[in-house]
Amino acid sequence: MKSLVVFFSLENNTKTIAKAISDELDCELLELKSKKQYPTSGFKKFLWGGKSVLFKEKPEILPLDVDLDKYDNILIGTPIWVGTFAPPIKTFIETNEIENKNIAVFVCHGGGGISRCYKDLEKQLPNNKFKGYVEFLEPLKKDTGESISKVKKWAKSLDLK
Ligand SMILES: Cc1cc2nc3c(=O)[nH]c(=O)nc-3n(C[C@H](O)[C@H](O)[C@H](O)COP(=O)(O)O)c2cc1C
Repeated sequence: MKSLVVFFSLENNTKTIAKAISDELDCELLELKSKKQYPTSGFKKFLWGGKSVLFKEKPEILPLDVDLDKYDNILIGTPIWVGTFAPPIKTFIETNEIENKNIAVFVCHGGGGISRCYKDLEKQLPNNKFKGYVEFLEPLKKDTGESISKVKKWAKSLDLK
């Protein structure tokens, strides 16, 4: 069975965790990038990112060179934005047919919205099997090394063949 790690990350927290998973599972890594970049600093970052969630935007993402049929397991990573997953993840889910996969979810956050994000992803991805979830509180600001060991252990424990 083949695994794919797919993620969006504005400020590299989720990216760091995603890389650790793909190293641990020795699998491919796919970064989603929005065509129009979200601002990465100050008030603008929260304003534009927040607006994008609240308006249920599906921002255009850069073309992906991936055939999802090749994968049985998809590990999805996102920062929490306004209590849910970031809009480029919505674009990815809604523009690809994702069914009959094992799904695992990893999120980075500043302290809230985790369980709603998990529920929203389950709702967006019916007809799939959710195998596990893990969350990290600002891993680049807190203990990066510890977060990396935690996610590697988690990835192994999913027992994805
Ligand atoms: C637009 C926006 C909205 C956010 N909303 C939340 C939130 O609702 N709950 C939370 O815990 N963190 C929130 N955050 C913080 C991020 O989830 C957190 O900083 C995360 O580690 C960023 O991951 P990244 O570096 O992969 O982008 C928000 C950040 C942005 C930019």
